[in-house]
Order: sequence, then structure tokens, then C-alpha cells
Amino acid sequence: MARQPRHSLAARIMARLDQLAAISSSPGEITRLYLTPEHRAAVELVSGWMREAGMTVTLDSAATVVGRTSGTARGAKTLLLGSHIDSVRNAGRYDGCLGVVLAIEAMAELKRLGRKLPYGVEVLAFGDEEGVRFPKTLTGSHAIAGGLEPNALDAEDESGQSIADALRGFGCDPDRIDEVARQSADVLGYVEVHIEQGPVLEDEGLGIGVVTAISGASRFQVEVRGKAGHAGTLPMPMRRDALAGAAEMVLAVEAVARETAGLVATVGRIAAVPGAVNVVPGDVNFSLDVRSPVDRTRRGGVQEIDKRFRTIARRRQLTVKLIETYNEKAVVCDQRLIRHISAATERAGFPTIGLPSGAGHDGLAISRLCPIGMLFVRCKGGVSHHPDEAVKAEDVEIATRVLLEILDKFSPDGRTLS
Ligand code: HGY
Ligand code: MN
Ligand code: MN
Repeated sequence: MARQPRHSLAARIMARLDQLAAISSSPGEITRLYLTPEHRAAVELVSGWMREAGMTVTLDSAATVVGRTSGTARGAKTLLLGSHIDSVRNAGRYDGCLGVVLAIEAMAELKRLGRKLPYGVEVLAFGDEEGVRFPKTLTGSHAIAGGLEPNALDAEDESGQSIADALRGFGCDPDRIDEVARQSADVLGYVEVHIEQGPVLEDEGLGIGVVTAISGASRFQVEVRGKAGHAGTLPMPMRRDALAGAAEMVLAVEAVARETAGLVATVGRIAAVPGAVNVVPGDVNFSLDVRSPVDRTRRGGVQEIDKRFRTIARRRQLTVKLIETYNEKAVVCDQRLIRHISAATERAGFPTIGLPSGAGHDGLAISRLCPIGMLFVRCKGGVSHHPDEAVKAEDVEIATRVLLEILDKFSPDGRTLS
């Protein structure tokens, strides 16, 4: 393939990521949640870039932007690329968006080179990978994989709006979401480029890595109930303080994860009711996120945490309830895709290693539909889900050239990868 000046592809990608980063519900930081006006603005921007790359663009019933280029071979299958354009609160600018913008740039480069692929390609920009607004997540990728739970769209955000209503407000028809599902027979596979969100590639001095597996994750809404009372008059021995109890439970989460090899667990959000400085909290809700590359370890960790919560609640005359909002099994990436991606990095002249992903990705859902593969890009200090998230243009250039190599060697029938 004719070489462009150094980093020319990365320069365009980085500029576009800066444009996306400016779309946020909170000035001065990056917060872009599913089915919000900011999501809509990002959809418009990404759709325009897909059209410039020669792709036909649709918005599916789960609000996933689908850019498509058909293959030249009759009846050819389709390779899925992409990532997500939603963010956590006060996010970095590369988590998710890098994979979408980079895939579009690879398709634009093929168009510039006049290169037509024998198989179809769809670039997917998912809107709900982070699961911040609603207590559900991977809605778009589950819809495409045909794995959406029946009542998934009933989940409500803090204002009480359901995903279904929010989809209608977004101009999508939730009643047709089943039509989004792809057939495995039509799909070659799914390849996602994503920042590593960890320190391994930087420690190894490598710009890119081939993902071997994605950790499974369980998420819960934990409700602790005690009894509110006057902060000045209620004697300590008579208190059923829900926040003091929750604090002990949060430390129990940390203790179980520290004691268990291969397990991580996090309480990321907590709220006390009534939340007044002079009232003993009667009710507390907090989030719980438990992960492991080994499902048995994750399940055992959840059981141990649940047991310790009950012991604490009993001793403090509290009640505790865990409501599961997310449960994704660990997924092993497809061996053929791992070999194909590794061969592409070698042909492109870049060293790499295989490494697991502690972070979740849309591939967890898409793995029900087709083989999945991922290419990681080094990120500074392994920092992510934070405004300090940073990548090097040269690593983005390498990842884009490797993706072009991957695309160049895929076979239309999908049965034989080089
Ligand atoms: O939470 C995760 O691991 C992903 O970034 N959504
Ligand atoms: Mn992500
Ligand atoms: Mn993320």
C-alpha cells in the first residue's frame, strides 16, 4: 500500500477525537451518556465522517451508528469493526471513540487508495458501553448480537425515564429493536481497536498488543436500610446507622478482593438518604463492580462479599439487598483472529504481545454472534476513565496501519483467514 507521510492517518484521527471530546454535558470535562443530546451530536459527527469514507450510514433501533461498505464478492460476509462513543463521567477522550474514529479512517484510506475489499465491512459506533445513565449496558452490542434480555429496555435512569422512552425521544423505535440482530452466518467476525486502559504495553515498551481475553464482570445496586434519627439526641448504642454500616461493607469489598487472586472489586458510587448533616442516615445505596478473567473466581468473590455484608447487617440491625444489574461472562478472543491480528502486526513490522483485558468491552456481547478480536493501543500510565487519558500519535498510526493489514488479508468466505 502506498505510504502516506508519517503519522498522517493519526493526525486526522487525533483531530477528530478532539472534536468528539468537545461534545459533553458538562463544560470543561467529557461526559457523554447514552441517548442524551451529547450522544446525538456525536452521532451526527461520526455519521458525517463515515459518509466521507464512502460508507452508507444508518442509525439502528438501539441508536448504534452503522457505517457500511459492501464487498465486491457476491454474497460475501461482513466484517464488523468499531467501538463505543459514550463515556463515563469526567472521562478521557480515547476510551471507545479511538476505535470508532480509527476504523473510519482505515476505511477512508482504502477509499483514497481506490482499494475495494471482497467482503463487506460495517463500522459500529455503539452508544451504551459504559452503562452510566441506565442500570443496564452493552444495549447496542447485545441488540446486534441478538442477546438483549426481554425487559432490558424497561431499565430506568435516575429521573425515572426508561431506555425505551429515551430511544423514542432519540428518534429510534424500541419496538423494532429485535430487527437489529445480525445472523452469525452473515458475519466474518468483530475486530475492535481500543486503548489498553492498563499499564502493560507501556511497561513492555510496546505501542500495540493483541487481546487474548476479556474479563467477566458482575455489577450490583446495593441497598442498605437502617433507621434515620436526630444526630444530636440519638444515643450511639441505639443507632441503626446505614452509612456507618455501608462504610464497613465497602471495606469488606476491598478486603475480599485483596485476599482473592485474580479478583478486583470496586464501589464507585454511594448515596446516603436523607443526606443531611444533622441526621443519622437511614438509607444508603451504593454500586458494586466485581471482575475476574475467571468466572468461578468472580462468582466466588460475589458470594463471599454477600456473606460479609449479611454478617455486618445482622450485627448492626440493618437490612442489605443486592440487586444484580449486569452479569457478563469472561470471553476468550478467537484464536484464528488472534493469529490473524498477530500476523498483521508482524507484516506491518511492529512487535507485539498477547494480553488480557481487565476492562469490559462491547466484544463481551458480540461474542455471542461471531468470533471477536481486539487490538490494544498503549495509553500513558495505563490511565483511563480519567481526563489524563493519553495516547501517542505514533501508536495510533501503528494501530491504523495494522488494521489496514488485517483488512487486506481477510478472505471473503471468512472460513480461511491468512
Ligand atoms: O467498565 C469497563 O470496564 C468499561 O470501560 N466499560
Ligand atoms: Mn471502552
Ligand atoms: Mn470505559
